[in-house]
Amino acid sequence: MEFLKTREVLKRLFILAVLIMAVIVNGKAFGADGIILERTAEWSYSDMGEVAPNWKNMEFDDSSWKKGKSPLGYGDDVSETDPSIPVGTVVGYGKADEKYMTTYFRKYVNIENRDGIKEVECFIHVDDGAVVYINGVEAFRKGVEDGEVKYTTVGKFKPKEESFKIPASLFKTGKNLIAAEVHQDGPNSSDLWFELGIKVPGTAEVKKTEGKANEVVKTEEPKIEKVSKITITFTGDTKTTKGFTWYTSQNSKKSDLQVVEKTGNTIDFSKATKFRGYTTISTNAKNEYLHKVEATGLKAGTTYFFRAGDSVQNLWSEIGSFKTAGGNKKFTFIDIADTQAKSEDEAILSAQTLAKSIETITDAEFIIHNGDIVDTGMSEIQWDWVLNNSGKTLLNMTIAPVAGNHEEDKESFAEHFNLKEVAGTDTKTGVYYSYDYGNAHFIMLNTNEDSKEFNNFNIEQIDWMKKDAAEAKKRGAKWIIVTMHKGPYTTSNHAVDPDIMGENGVRTKVVPLLNQIGADLVFQGHDHIYARTKVIKDGKAVKATKITELVNGVKTEYTVNPDGTIYLIPSTGGPKVYYKNKKIDSSYYDLFDIADEHHAAVYGADPKDSSRPLRGQIQNFTGITIDGDKLTAVSYETDKDKNNGMPYIIDSFGIIKKSKK
Ligand SMILES: [Fe+2]
Ligand SMILES: [Fe+2]
Repeated sequence: MEFLKTREVLKRLFILAVLIMAVIVNGKAFGADGIILERTAEWSYSDMGEVAPNWKNMEFDDSSWKKGKSPLGYGDDVSETDPSIPVGTVVGYGKADEKYMTTYFRKYVNIENRDGIKEVECFIHVDDGAVVYINGVEAFRKGVEDGEVKYTTVGKFKPKEESFKIPASLFKTGKNLIAAEVHQDGPNSSDLWFELGIKVPGTAEVKKTEGKANEVVKTEEPKIEKVSKITITFTGDTKTTKGFTWYTSQNSKKSDLQVVEKTGNTIDFSKATKFRGYTTISTNAKNEYLHKVEATGLKAGTTYFFRAGDSVQNLWSEIGSFKTAGGNKKFTFIDIADTQAKSEDEAILSAQTLAKSIETITDAEFIIHNGDIVDTGMSEIQWDWVLNNSGKTLLNMTIAPVAGNHEEDKESFAEHFNLKEVAGTDTKTGVYYSYDYGNAHFIMLNTNEDSKEFNNFNIEQIDWMKKDAAEAKKRGAKWIIVTMHKGPYTTSNHAVDPDIMGENGVRTKVVPLLNQIGADLVFQGHDHIYARTKVIKDGKAVKATKITELVNGVKTEYTVNPDGTIYLIPSTGGPKVYYKNKKIDSSYYDLFDIADEHHAAVYGADPKDSSRPLRGQIQNFTGITIDGDKLTAVSYETDKDKNNGMPYIIDSFGIIKKSKK
């Protein structure tokens, strides 16, 4: 017995010793804790344009290169995929409208003994794409197509981050060189991010940045019990249904909506129609519940009061109101873009633009938002800023948004709006959907997708768009109105992006399709400047008959029976504005009726960014009325230093569709 016990103890000690040895070997082989490269490591980097071809090899002398801690990048204060990670080093990019296409990084790591390890695990977050070499040999690439890589090669990696394994044999015992070239998606790319970690599989998680928490990081403090971030949206039949979304702490588990038809001035929720939806944990704010409910069976052309909340807890929102679509001949809506704010003060400014838009266009029945609602979609506090400061507006107004590239990650768009995505489609990067309103059909696209054939769209979305428009025409839709964030006809830096003007770009491939589906008007965002095209068909301006009328005392030109599409970018409802692109050939601007310099340019450059006009000075929005066969659009501007900050008209235009006799 005694002997057996001793033998058992010895056996166990032996196993333990083997395990300890294995850990020591692992640890020693690849450095402390099995970490080969920390995500916060200091790199040598070159942010001055093209470098000598041997830059990725050991013998290259990088002593003149700069040094900085990872993550390295520009354009983002925090990681777009994890807003708790601040940028470690801001790198340069050259000229604002002609940024360097490639930035180079080098890092030496020492490995005592590589034996016994077959694979290592990598984490990379790169915006837009990278090729990584170990000891001069390509180890992997993300977002850069196969084949020869040049300084001008375009990168586009979706999703922006990934963990994966590579053979350990790429490393050797002793000094190893990790070299990475980070490619942009174009010379106007707004941001760059490079963060790389490498470790032995099974060892501690690759460390994240140990920076001071950035001010935009959401804290886990218990929240005051309230219903916040309410949005009202279209969920299909605009006459009989409406979608609702809101957020609460995790104490409120129910998603209840009470709806009462407006009959007089009293609101009696004891007579309300009750709807219950579903509750889920928010992807980007794990301490919050998000609630979605759909109200159905409503009467057309009717105003309702509602409150949203939790009947078990008797927790309710303020009372809001909404109106269903009628079989109306005439209706009005607002178009706005890029409210994206970097701080709460800026979000208050965006909220004020929204409020001014409904005070100016008093009969508006909904607001179309052309995307970039926030600056970092995964930073939940930014949604708090814009949606809560717009609370009064959004509690009484339906919003029909599309996703911008700033809310392309991790359901950040889809979760904030109750929209019916096309069955079977992925909503991680956004939602595409459509709705009828009056005699018009609205197609809301998601430009955050990716395909070789259509750059910012996948083939399924393009096929859906064609089918959806054809069905709408069959139902008798008189107007086809399309909204997309990254549009084909804008007048600032994004007008020359490869995903717009390249061989498979939106202007090249999607514009002819928009003609084919009979799009009358296309709303665009992303380029932060006001512009309006002539009637465009297959990339060319076509002649059109014009009639001039006075609208609100303003001479307004109506195009009669246009054989093509008009493209509008209503500039932005938020703080960020861009200069007109002066490098484009003037023949491009012949396609436009309005292609002026941004009106904020007279105030000079922004003190924090000389490549852009003064931030926060001027905002814009457009009101559109469809009355049978006549569409009238009036664009407004607000300037802090003009007209007491109240909106004034800067442009008006229209389309008339006369039935042929
Ligand atoms: Fe934007
Ligand atoms: Fe954008």
